[in-house]
Amino acid sequence: MALTPPTPPTPSDGAPAPAAAAVTAPPPRPAPAAPPLPTQADISREIAARHTAAERDRAAGAPAPHHPARDFAPYRSSTARHPHRAPVEIDHLADPEAVELGGPAFGVTDVTDLDADLTRQHTGEPLGERITVTGRVLDRSGRPVRGQLVEIWQANAAGRYAHQRDQHPAPLDPHFTGVGRCLTDDAGRYAFTTVKPGAYPWRNHHNAWRPAHIHFSLFGSAFTQRLITQMYFPGDPLFPYDPILASVTDPTARARLVATYDHELTVPERSLGYRWDVVLDGPSATWIEEGR
Ligand SMILES: [Fe+2]
Repeated sequence: MALTPPTPPTPSDGAPAPAAAAVTAPPPRPAPAAPPLPTQADISREIAARHTAAERDRAAGAPAPHHPARDFAPYRSSTARHPHRAPVEIDHLADPEAVELGGPAFGVTDVTDLDADLTRQHTGEPLGERITVTGRVLDRSGRPVRGQLVEIWQANAAGRYAHQRDQHPAPLDPHFTGVGRCLTDDAGRYAFTTVKPGAYPWRNHHNAWRPAHIHFSLFGSAFTQRLITQMYFPGDPLFPYDPILASVTDPTARARLVATYDHELTVPERSLGYRWDVVLDGPSATWIEEGR
């Protein structure tokens, strides 16, 4: 039988009527306790098992993958973030303009030199270790890929993204947005000036920290060709603990995601130089975050 809540008394003295909910509502139940986060040891054990399995597959002659498994469980959210349904087919014959839905979107302004210098996008200079990052975009034969839109995004020197969803209590830098873009030149070369991003914590497991990295996107000639990956810095002590880097199960392919310090690129009195090439396909392809 449904219970009818008692009618609150009508106020006669001008005082606000008591809220019905205050009379009838049961006390709120405490939220169920969140399951404890896995430890680093748990995650490291899972990574080792996946790497052992990948090693076994390689030894058995399995074809070399070029992107991480979508459900690489040590990277916890990867299992929930990938699509579980087949892509929607677009019938280009029935509606030729439908292809525009997947077309590139380059923004409302032209790509300028300022876009490639993340240290000059505000009225003052950002804090942190200034760096230049350059390299070439190449095809499987080593030929340059010209006119390629290369976009980057990254945390600031304190390990904080200028994004509302980043609530890591590290300082934002009013002089750093962390977003850049450029087009490759005739030699397939791109170049950015920025600051070295800091490591940052994330909640994949207890005491999880991402090694310093810069996110890269390469657009291709259509949206459907977009490739996304991450570049790391040499010698980072967090490499062995990171399940995202570890989701690249081939150690040589992992090494290809790490830039090289290049003293020739270091600009006197200005910035340290790092070199990192991106190979789009073939046996030396740079691993990307999605299937090609
Ligand atoms: Fe990141």
